Formats: sequence, structure tokens, C-alpha cells
Amino acid sequence: MFFRRRNRLQQLKDRAWLARPVPAACGDVQTMLIPDELRLLDFLADDYYQQDGVIVDAGCFLGGSTLALANGLTRNLSRRRRPASKLIHSFDLFQVEDWTRGIYFPKDVEAGVGTRAIYDRNIANYAPLIDIHEGDITHSRWSGAPIEILFIDVAKHWTVCDWITENLFPHLIPGKSIVVQQDYLYHYWNGWLHVTMEHYRDNFEILCDTEYNSVAFLYKKRFEPGAIKPALVGSMPIDDKAALMDRAAARFSGQKKEWLQSSKAHFIEMASHGG
Ligand SMILES: C[S@@+](CC[C@H](N)C(=O)[O-])C[C@H]1O[C@@H](n2cnc3c(N)ncnc32)[C@H](O)[C@@H]1O
Repeated sequence: MFFRRRNRLQQLKDRAWLARPVPAACGDVQTMLIPDELRLLDFLADDYYQQDGVIVDAGCFLGGSTLALANGLTRNLSRRRRPASKLIHSFDLFQVEDWTRGIYFPKDVEAGVGTRAIYDRNIANYAPLIDIHEGDITHSRWSGAPIEILFIDVAKHWTVCDWITENLFPHLIPGKSIVVQQDYLYHYWNGWLHVTMEHYRDNFEILCDTEYNSVAFLYKKRFEPGAIKPALVGSMPIDDKAALMDRAAARFSGQKKEWLQSSKAHFIEMASHGG
């Protein structure tokens, strides 16, 4: 088991998922993810996952990330002759956001209209694998189950990022859990992700990224007692945030580094105006 996990970690570092097809289950379902992110999620649920915890799909929109995870999980369970169960926990508000009108939805659809029926239709073939949590994730309560794969595509504000840190990070499994920060390599609206992962840099190791968007981390070392701070980003002085974002940017080069630097400028501007 230990050697299998180590081998899979190496495969992640080597970006083995690039050789996979885009998961068939994703079909023509609309997604905000790029094909390599779908491949990565499929790989994680198929080859990496060992059912030591559950899979969290935080921010599932119309089901793209859910289907990539479900595609991999189906193969995983079938290979190991395990029965289907609701191992994927998918979270979303399931409401049309204003900025998505005219891109993912017709322009004349009103913001706030429910999208749950579309999601349910899209994931119908995999429903026995998915526990759906509808509503604001920050109003939910985690069951306490260990989390082996944590896909974060919902932290579009630091308050949500802080909620995840406080409520989900304590349930990661040292040496096993993978955290995918979907918006890590993006030019703005994500500086809090850099602050958070850099603050906990001793606990995480960067494994790989999808060039644009997602970065996958291994939760390598257990948090010390008291290390998980409520409102980590929200309560941090701006100079400390800036220093952490500089350190996060220094881990990358070229275009990726420029994205993190531009994220920093955006977040400092946002924070100085009260967010
Ligand atoms: C970038 S999209 C997710 C894309 C999706 N993973 C995919 O495969 O296409 C982010 C999602 O987060 C959801 N969201 C934003 N804030 C939320 C919150 N506080 N609670 C629950 N969901 C939220 C939005 O409704 C949106 O569907």
C-alpha cells in the first residue's frame, strides 16, 4: 500500500494524467475546467484514491469536475470490486451567477435562477456515487469524515477560503491527502489562496500543476495543535499577506510567477478597499 501510494505520488509529479483521454463521462457537459484539469481529477479518483477518506468536489457548477471524479472513481471501485457509495461530496450554490450570463447561460436568464436540475441531469448516471450539498458552503457543517481528495473550486472570496481552511483542512490525512487549488495559477481574484498555502507551507508540498489554473498539493505533515486559525486570511495584517504572496510567487517562474504577482497586486488593492 505504502509503495503504491509513493508510486502514485511520483506519477503525479511526472504529470502522468496528461497521457489519459479527457474522461468520457464529461461528454459535452459545460465546464469551467480545462481538459488537463479533467484528466487530473480523473487520475486522482481512479489511480490515486484508496478510499482512506472521501472526495470533496467544492464548487461543481454544472458537473464537469464531478463527472471527471466520478469517471475515475467508477473504474477504481470496479477494479477493487467495491460497491458504489456516495464517496464524492459535491458542493455548490446551484444558482446562475451574473457574470456567467451570455457565456454559460443565455443572456436573458436571470441571475439567481436555480441550476440544480441541470446538474442532476448531467450527473444522473453517477448519482449513486455523489452526495450533493446545495447552498452556501460556509453555512454547512462537515460530517468529520477524513478527506483524501479535496478539490477546491469554490474559494472565490477569502471568507470561503478561510471557511475551508478552518472546517475542511483539519480532516486531511497526513502523507495521503491531495488538495487541488483550482484557481492557483490565475492572474487575479485568488491572492488568498497563495496566502493560505504559503502560510501552511511546512504542511504541504507542491506536486504538479496544469500550467494554467490548478495546482495539486500533497498534505505531507500534520498541522500542529492550534495551527489552524479561524479567519486566517481575513484577520492577517496586509504586510504579512504581501510577504506570503511574494514567497508564493517566488516558487514559480515566467508567466506563472507573473500571474501570482498580478494576483498580489489585485488582492492588496481589494483588501485596502475593505474587500
Ligand atoms: C468556477 S465554478 C466551478 C466550476 C466547476 N468545478 C466545473 O467543473 O465547471 C465555481 C462554483 O462555485 C460556486 N460557489 C461560489 N461561491 C459559493 C459558496 N459560497 N458556496 C457554494 N458554492 C459556491 C458557484 O456557484 C460556481 O458554480
